[in-house]
Amino acid sequence: MAKPLVGIVMGSSSDWEVMQHAARSLADFGVPYEARALSAHRSPDLLIEWVEGLVAQGAKCFITGAGGAAHLAGVVAARTTLPVLGVPMPSQHLQGLDSLLSVVQMPKGVPVATFAIGEAGAANAGLFAVAILALDDAALAKKLSDFRKQQADAVNAARLPGLSG
Ligand code: RP5
Repeated sequence: MAKPLVGIVMGSSSDWEVMQHAARSLADFGVPYEARALSAHRSPDLLIEWVEGLVAQGAKCFITGAGGAAHLAGVVAARTTLPVLGVPMPSQHLQGLDSLLSVVQMPKGVPVATFAIGEAGAANAGLFAVAILALDDAALAKKLSDFRKQQADAVNAARLPGLSG
């Protein structure tokens, strides 16, 4: 098994439905990753142990997903200078606005790159991790550029339906 280049961590297994889209992006590009559910407030020691273990194995960045008072990304960023990509989870009462503000409003000095709430954010965080890795990997950069071209081709091929009614 290849050593993970990306660590994906989420605050709860209930986040997996959304965070699997980050894993899917990485898998589609053949990037090895490790995904865990570890909480910044329920299991802080385990979280830190896992982050430090992945850094020691040579991981290049982390993707985090958390909801509510979403401090997971900030806690991971406190333990590594590797890039941390934060995905706000949709939440029950505030539809993810609480998660978004918790992730995006990091105080100066310890940055977290913040993505859109939910599936699009998770998928894009995966693609962003691919872009980071592609800086040092020409084959991966080519795959990413081909992927962008496929999207452009799909837009170009789209035809609008006629008027309804
Ligand atoms: C956060 O609380 C998790 O990231 C999740 O989004 C939210 C709810 O967790 P569960 O109560 O479903 O475990 O820590």
